[in-house]
Amino acid sequence: SKPGNQNQRNPNHLQPRASSFKVAVLGAAGGIGQPLALLIKMSPLVSALHLYDIANVKGVAADLSHCNTPSKVLDFTGPAELADSLKDVDVVVIPAGVPRKPGMTRDDLFNINANIVKTLVEAVADHAPEAFIHIISNPVNSTVPIAAEVLKAKGVYDPKKLFGVTTLDVVRANTFVAQKKNLKLIDVDVPVIGGHAGITILPLLSKTRPPVSFTDEEVEQLTVRIQNAGTEVVEAKAGAGSATLSMAYAAARFVESSLRALDGDGDVYECAFVQSELTELPFFASRIKLGRKGVEAVISTDLRNLTDYEAKALEALKPELKASIEKGISFAQKQK
Ligand code: NAI
Repeated sequence: SKPGNQNQRNPNHLQPRASSFKVAVLGAAGGIGQPLALLIKMSPLVSALHLYDIANVKGVAADLSHCNTPSKVLDFTGPAELADSLKDVDVVVIPAGVPRKPGMTRDDLFNINANIVKTLVEAVADHAPEAFIHIISNPVNSTVPIAAEVLKAKGVYDPKKLFGVTTLDVVRANTFVAQKKNLKLIDVDVPVIGGHAGITILPLLSKTRPPVSFTDEEVEQLTVRIQNAGTEVVEAKAGAGSATLSMAYAAARFVESSLRALDGDGDVYECAFVQSELTELPFFASRIKLGRKGVEAVISTDLRNLTDYEAKALEALKPELKASIEKGISFAQKQK
């Protein structure tokens, strides 16, 4: 048949698609987990929302289940119920772990969160090996390589389906650029590459869409603000944790993009920290095109024609990012 004949052959074509995806949130009772679960509950693409945590998840699920949106909400508490929480899920989001307090770097969280991510991803490998995995737990620069090693050891690693969630860096960059340049927020899109900690977060302001010009001073100011935005929140919360609400917003956007891609939308782009051949580093955040099978393409054009400032910052971030990746890999390999 000719292309374009779809509507005649399938009269249902123009009807809304069924909402049929299952999403699991591991760490769902936490500061990020709760608002993230709420935002996912609003999605018309979700049919079931599985909430897992080691404590306090029953109440969160009971509460959310009263919202009259399509998805069913199920709660799962503790390791004995972890496997069931992963049954048939399409997307697993992992915000489990401890957040920063003032004075801490993301790497200071390594010892606790590395083990949490390892344990959870082992279960994902066993019970949802086909799912997209979104890692939020910090340090993302190390926890994603840990997850990759765990999946490899289980023989189910698909690099196209493992993502470190860096959407918050993009959300922040878009907000700060729009504020500074007095632009309509909805239109602003800044690619952010590298990793997700300090100087490894590199906003490519020269690639902002729509095109905007910045003075050298503005570039320096905005770059530093985007890199330290997490710390701004940690300090404002003064010991009560790190970004949770803006993070939930960003993670929900990444979930929604993943579901649209799984649903066959051919025009879905996000930045994420993924296995990559863009640079000599094995993992790197950049814009990616999402499709039914995960990463469909890593967008390399953003790295062309960098400004001197960006090119220098890219070289400067590589040693730190490399060390964080290697720290994750060697942690996972030692555990074998
Ligand atoms: P939180 O402490 O409020 O919540 C963490 C939740 O994880 C708690 O409910 C806890 O019970 C649960 N948890 C702990 N061990 C677990 C296990 N083994 N299995 C399942 N659940 C477990 O922390 P918050 O603020 O929600 O942050 C979570 C993580 O997200 C932190 O590592 C933080 O650094 C990271 N984060 C990442 C960002 C990003 O851009 N990727 C931005 C902000 C935070």
